[in-house]
Amino acid sequence: MDVQLKIHRFVEGKKWVDTYTVPITTGLTVLNALTYVKEKLDPTLSFTSACRSSICGACAVRVNGNAELSCEVLVEDLLARYQTEELTIEPLGNFTVIRDLVVDWDPKYARIKKVKPTLHPKDDFTSETGCLQSPEDFNKYKKYAGCILCGSCVSECNKNTLNADDFLDPFAFVKAEKLVADSRSKTPAEHLKAVLDAGLWRCFNCQECTAKCPKGLDPAGAIEKLKEATFRHHLDDNVGARHAKAIYDDISESGTLDESKLNIKSEGYFMSALRLPMALRLMNTGKMDPLASHPVNPEIKTIAAIVKAAEQADKEEATS
Ligand code: SF4
Ligand code: SF4
Ligand code: FES
Repeated sequence: MDVQLKIHRFVEGKKWVDTYTVPITTGLTVLNALTYVKEKLDPTLSFTSACRSSICGACAVRVNGNAELSCEVLVEDLLARYQTEELTIEPLGNFTVIRDLVVDWDPKYARIKKVKPTLHPKDDFTSETGCLQSPEDFNKYKKYAGCILCGSCVSECNKNTLNADDFLDPFAFVKAEKLVADSRSKTPAEHLKAVLDAGLWRCFNCQECTAKCPKGLDPAGAIEKLKEATFRHHLDDNVGARHAKAIYDDISESGTLDESKLNIKSEGYFMSALRLPMALRLMNTGKMDPLASHPVNPEIKTIAAIVKAAEQADKEEATS
């Protein structure tokens, strides 16, 4: 059996799609298939890879619209997943393409510097004693140390697609959470201030980064942990934190959101006044009624129990 690979080509500003037929052998990965094309069918095709063992992150591409590590994913599995005999292969999204499937990492490396990605150890560590850490403390950030900088998360990040100027790549937040959660660091607040400036609260929470990470690192979860940490470090005098707090208060008290007050609590009266045209549209369509009393959800007891359980789980995680 063969697979048809429709590969997006890009050379010196010219774009086109080439179709290649590759025989499927047992255990054929997408990277094996690309290598077959380059070696047997078309030496002009460009792509990147290095370790071929899912550890260097160099080989990620988009297959049928989803980022994949090409050395890890099997062609047969993809054909079964999409119920097809044809795969479309493109470069990662939200990157500048250099040639064919090769993307430019230089701007991404420059952006990751925004989170101040260096660990500054506490003063009580010395060159004689080293930076000792308990296994429990190590486990708090171990997961995030597994990022292989493959770019799959940013490829599918909806916020980056809309506007990358005021928001970082998801892996940069993973890096920041690794540093903030590291008990050896004396500067977690510095990294938190940096991610706040770099758009922490602008994440859409769409979970695409988490769904696409081949290492299961949960970048969206890292972003939520960073948000939590900003409260612990009293870095919560900003619109995002006030918005989250307003939602938390409304849900805890009544189980429903008070839309007519949410914006005032988040942005203050002046900024809310500037949003009057939108408020009028919401009132016009019946989505908001500032005169109506704020209803209490009939399931408020269940909601209160969920809030309490979540608070307890948070406390246990913080002390574990
Ligand atoms: S959850 Fe946030 S960081 Fe992750 S893909 Fe969505 S917008 Fe991007
Ligand atoms: S967070 Fe996951 S998807 Fe993003 S670069 Fe790191 S390993 Fe790749
Ligand atoms: S080639 Fe290294 S992760 Fe695929």
